[in-house]
Formats: sequence, structure tokens, C-alpha cells
Amino acid sequence: MKAMVYKKYGSPDVFEIAKLKRPQIKSNEILIKVHYTTVTTADVRLRSLNVPKGFGLIIRLVQGLTKPRKQLLGSDFSGEVVAVGNNVKEFVTGDKVFGSSKTGTYAEFTVLKDNGTITKIPDNISLEEAASLPFGAMTSLTFLRDLGELKQGQKLLINGASGSLGTNAIQMAKMYGAHITAICSGKNTELVKSLGADEVIDYTKEDYLKSGKKYDIIYDTLGIISPKESLSMLNEGGRHLMAVSTIPQYFDIFKLSMTQRKKIKAGMAIFNKNNIETIAEFVINGKLKPVIDKTFKLEDIEEAHRYVDMGHKVGSVVINIEKDYIEL
Ligand SMILES: NC(=O)c1ccc[n+]([C@@H]2O[C@H](COP(=O)([O-])OP(=O)(O)OC[C@H]3O[C@@H](n4cnc5c(N)ncnc54)[C@H](OP(=O)(O)O)[C@@H]3O)[C@@H](O)[C@H]2O)c1
Repeated sequence: MKAMVYKKYGSPDVFEIAKLKRPQIKSNEILIKVHYTTVTTADVRLRSLNVPKGFGLIIRLVQGLTKPRKQLLGSDFSGEVVAVGNNVKEFVTGDKVFGSSKTGTYAEFTVLKDNGTITKIPDNISLEEAASLPFGAMTSLTFLRDLGELKQGQKLLINGASGSLGTNAIQMAKMYGAHITAICSGKNTELVKSLGADEVIDYTKEDYLKSGKKYDIIYDTLGIISPKESLSMLNEGGRHLMAVSTIPQYFDIFKLSMTQRKKIKAGMAIFNKNNIETIAEFVINGKLKPVIDKTFKLEDIEEAHRYVDMGHKVGSVVINIEKDYIEL
């Protein structure tokens, strides 16, 4: 199968086209012909090793000390089931599915276990839209529902509201009945309002750290608001959810937890079957709409990575693999 691999860490020009063996499936696995994937902020971090302070060595130990052990990046996918193992009951050949793969998705095929992060694509979205959802939507679900325990009527501040985490977070918070203040640049104001933000702060004009306003939950998707800064912005019993945090900040969080009723929570997104099914239900109910910035071809992965590297994307950057289809 055709794939886009990287054999060293570095700038977006590390990618090269490769012909890999088409994956074989076991009895509990599903082979998917990938139609669309995305370039996520996690992909660019794994390519560049531009990670929060203190995580560099940890990532190298996991991913490969001097070069990546796993040469295939990408996790989001949408596509068609082309083969199933003997014990797979839930899916049949021809099903249109989406989710998050651990084996890499910058390729024509990917393999998932039947209990992996995979579900059928709702009828009311396209395959392209489906691929744009898993990363940002499951991350914001983990942070708002699980770490934040967001409740109706709570005041929520979302920083980085125009990104893939942010655009999904606004829509989910609306479902939970929160009062949402979204931080973004002026050009994205109309978008975040259309997704459900009640108030918008243009960070290029206003210093929200000095506004004196208080919130029940602060969801900082970018790791810009420090644990100490958030204390003065939180109501009593409030929570600061950090999607990005450095190792030194983990120590700050631990120290603050000894003296504070306000909770600061850093954590990792949970990508699993329950969560992707929840995302699909939100879509079916018309509560969650995909936000796509641009779609690139697989051949243009370098350009796509350069674009995501800039840190200004709106929602998701999608990669079309279908166009590159070559019969094997
Ligand atoms: N903890 C976890 O498990 C987890 C999971 C997924 C992602 N993450 C992390 O979450 C972060 C965000 O991911 P993402 O995919 O949502 O990023 P993204 O899609 O690149 O979005 C970033 C957004 O933030 C806006 N922005 C840039 N500077 C800003 C500022 N100073 N204030 C407010 N908004 C600003 C950008 O638009 P403008 O520049 O045009 O304003 C852009 O729309 C990444 O660093 C990623 O590593 C963590």
C-alpha cells in the first residue's frame, strides 16, 4: 500500500512516499481502506519533537531515542471496511467507519481491533467531515465531561476556542448548558459565536488575565494560562483544565492541590470506543458539527504539516487519501 512515512524527527520535509506491505488482520481485527485522515497537533509534535518542557526525553523514550520507531503518523481516519476477521460481529465489509487508529493513518489502509476506537459514520455527515472529528472531539469530551465535570449553568472560559479542541469544546459545552466565553482572534469571532459561544474575547485586543472576571471552569487548550494565574480567575471550587502542561507545571499543580479548593487538572485525552460512539451520537442528534479548515492531498503532507505548524488552524486539517488510490 502507498503511505507517507517519516524516518527522522524534524521539519515537515521529513516525509517520503513509501510502499508498505498491506496489513494482515487477525480474527478480532478490521481492515479499513482509509479515505481521509487529518494532520493533528499531536502529529506535528511527534514529527518535530516540539513538546512541552520536560516531555522531550519521555517522548524519545517512547517513540524512539534518535529516530521514530513507528514511521507512520496519523490517528484520525474515516473510510470503508474492506475485510473483517472471523470473530468480528459488529462490522461487515462495506461499512463506512471513522475513529482513531494506533497503527498510523497516513496510508491507504489501517487496522483496528473490533473493540478499538471505531464506529459507523452517521448518515448526516460526509467521510471527509467524519475524519475531522475524533481527535478534537474526544479530547474535549475527556476534558469537559470527565476532568471538568461540566454542569448546566456553569461559567466556562475556553482558550484557543477556534482550534480543533476549541471548536468541539464550544459545541459540547452548549449541550451541557454552560455559559461560554470563548477566547480567539478577531477573525474567528463569528465562527465561535455560530458554534455557541455566548461571549467572545479577542486576545489580540484584550488582556483577559486582567479583566477581573471569574469562571467555574477554565479550559485552556493551549497551555497559556498558568496554574497560578488561573487561581484569581476561578470561582470558589472552580477547575482549571490544562490540555497542555509542562513537567514543572505538574509540580506546581501538586503543590497547589495541598492548599487550594480550586482544582487544576492536567491530563491526557481518552480515545476509546465509548467516546467515539458518544461523538457519533452528538452528530446524529445534530449537536456537533465538524469544522474543517483545509483539505490537502496525501502527496501534500509536507505543506499540510507546515500549515498546522503555524498554530493558526481553525478546526481540523484533513488529508484526502482516496484521491491517491492505487489498485494493488
Ligand atoms: N492533553 C491531551 O491529551 C491533548 C490532546 C490533544 C491536543 N492537545 C494539545 O492541545 C493543543 C491545542 O490543540 P488543537 O488541535 O486544538 O490546536 P489548533 O487546532 O492548532 O488550534 C489552535 C488555535 O488557537 C488559536 N490561537 C493561537 N494563539 C492563541 C492565543 N494566544 N490565544 C487564543 N487562541 C490562540 C489559533 O487561531 P489564531 O492564531 O488564528 O487565533 C488556532 O485556531 C496542542 O498543543 C495539543 O498538543 C493535548
